Amino acid sequence: MLQKPRGTRDFLPDEMEPRRAVEWKLREVARRFGYREVCTPEFEDLELFTQRSGEGITSEMYVFEDKGGRKLALRPEITAAVIRMYINEAKVAPKPLRWCYFADCFRYERPQKGRYRQFWQFGVELIGADTAIADAEVILLAAEMLDATGVTYELKVGHLAFMKQLLRDLDPTAQRRVMAHLDKKDFAGLDVTLAELDKPDLAQSLTALLSCRTVQEALTIVGPIPDEARLIQTLDMLEASGCRYTLNFGIARGLDYYTGMVFEGFARNLGAENQILGGGTYRLAHLFGGDDVASCGFAIGFDRVMVSLGDVQHIKDTVVAVACTGEGRARALEVARAFRNAGVRTEMDLMERSLGAQLAHAAKTADFAVVIGKREAESGEVTLKNLHSGDQRTLDPAAAIAEVNAHGAR
Ligand code: HAM
Repeated sequence: MLQKPRGTRDFLPDEMEPRRAVEWKLREVARRFGYREVCTPEFEDLELFTQRSGEGITSEMYVFEDKGGRKLALRPEITAAVIRMYINEAKVAPKPLRWCYFADCFRYERPQKGRYRQFWQFGVELIGADTAIADAEVILLAAEMLDATGVTYELKVGHLAFMKQLLRDLDPTAQRRVMAHLDKKDFAGLDVTLAELDKPDLAQSLTALLSCRTVQEALTIVGPIPDEARLIQTLDMLEASGCRYTLNFGIARGLDYYTGMVFEGFARNLGAENQILGGGTYRLAHLFGGDDVASCGFAIGFDRVMVSLGDVQHIKDTVVAVACTGEGRARALEVARAFRNAGVRTEMDLMERSLGAQLAHAAKTADFAVVIGKREAESGEVTLKNLHSGDQRTLDPAAAIAEVNAHGAR
């Protein structure tokens, strides 16, 4: 028997329905903030992702050559594609652009709970606003979105300038190596790398920076940073808006394009794969032949949010089964149409079962049965049976629809 590829998942209706419900909650928050949906191709020129995605992600890419010999990659993330699209299609549009997306990404990672090779991100990109309030809006939107899902999380905000200041004597490759260890919280690896770079004493100041909980403390360790005023303004706005966050200057992010403020969200009830959101300010457009536009965004790891939410009770559709005899079939089709037109999920027997067998099947799959035999076909009424309570009444179809709508699934 053929199986799905490792690291991918099938979703049955019982999983898809709650996924869609959560997706729509995210969409609704994005809409209220003015972020409009965009869509980019599932695969792109390989070069788009190799320019500034960082070694961690490029080494995990699904890369292939098409029949025309082009080197392509399944998207490991969507930010680079959105910025490519901005340059191709919307460079002259009035700024800022507020865009969002819900799409799948592909990374050849070692699969485990919350870590997949195909996974979905709900992300936003704010393009062309280079201000403290822009940064604050993106963080507030992230928090509102996570709140809307019902997940319990911690939001951590940081700024790359502190770490870069400490690492200023290292060349960019060495800086990236050190930051990759910090991103993965791999402190043993960090010590080895610092020893190799002949900078063992950096470990102490990096550790001190990681434990700072105020901007002032970090400034004392590192000295002034260029974005200090903007960061403080952003944090003031978050506080004024009642946003709950902690400062963490150890956030390094796994992608190389971030330039300043960075933030991450962590689900409280997840284990190793507990990072449910990541983002920050970045510049990518100039690498793809566009202007050097400042951007800020984040992506929510949708699958991790779903794992964190677990089996929270999802409100299911009320299901009506219209059961009929041969004499009642034509009328049953009419009645089913009326229920469907009223928005009710309505199913009819397609297996040519007897009335008794239809009712037995309905007891397993539906909340109400609407029975239409010869008598009902003649009278125009229907027999409505609540399959949970067993209550049964003869009503005209409009009253039966009203009863179903009032009652809901039990
Ligand atoms: P990222 O941190 O690489 O950032 O991914 C965002 C989120 O996707 C992660 O926080 C995590 O929840 C989820 N994620 C990543 N890998 C996997 C996986 N293998 N399985 C399940 N979930 C996963 C980005 O991708 C940036 N493009 C975010 C961004 C947007 N920055 C600015 N704008």
